[in-house]
Amino acid sequence: MNPAKRRTVIAGNWKMNFTPAEAVAFINEIKPMVAGKDNCDIIFCAPYVTIAAALEAAKGSNIVIGAENVHFAPKGAYTGEVSAEMLKAIGVDTVIIGHSERRQYFGETDETVNLRTKAALAAGMRVILCMGEVKEQREAGITNEVCAMQIKLDLAGIPAEDMKNIVIAYEPVWAIGTGLTATPEQAEETCGVIRDVLVELYGKEVAEATTIQYGGSMNDANAADLLAKPNIDGGLIGGASLVAKKFTAIVDAAQ
Ligand code: PGA
Repeated sequence: MNPAKRRTVIAGNWKMNFTPAEAVAFINEIKPMVAGKDNCDIIFCAPYVTIAAALEAAKGSNIVIGAENVHFAPKGAYTGEVSAEMLKAIGVDTVIIGHSERRQYFGETDETVNLRTKAALAAGMRVILCMGEVKEQREAGITNEVCAMQIKLDLAGIPAEDMKNIVIAYEPVWAIGTGLTATPEQAEETCGVIRDVLVELYGKEVAEATTIQYGGSMNDANAADLLAKPNIDGGLIGGASLVAKKFTAIVDAAQ
């Protein structure tokens, strides 16, 4: 982390977990546990049907509720999709885009990730943009090239002034939901590479002000070591974001 230069962001990605009632119970449990811990932004991204209940439960707290995806069109014949306008209308300002599970299982590409990101930014939303290499790419020694290419394609045409509304989540796909975490050194190295690409695209000032999270089996046991690294400005947390005690420990590590 480098709180002098950029905001630390600890975000939970609930994925396809929590009914509205379960989300309310979870928010009510964790709200007092994270109250006053203001050295980082605290976000939970929820399934669409759970968002309204989670928003209501989080009202007046330091917890932000976001969505897990958004479509690029304002409306139309896109069965199963939700637009930025719709999310904004119910009070959602934050959205995850390009998660590896969307890319792996639902055919999302750098092109659709780029379009979705532009639509969310145009609606005034804050985007958590996910990218990262798969196992074969790391083993082949091309992690840096893969990440540089992804970030360039995902951010294509997005101007520097929009970068204040983008958080990059570096998530090595082999570490997501597997219990395998990148070592702090591996994660720091790749987050550094991503920041170098941002320097190339937007200049030093913008690159240094951009929050870059690590995601992939981050938990209460490894968060402090990861967050101690200068280029790791937070976490995107799946499994451990479903357990109040574990998530709070990660927030504590960011204080
Ligand atoms: P995980 O998920 O923490 O369960 O590995 C992270 C993510 O998918 O964002």
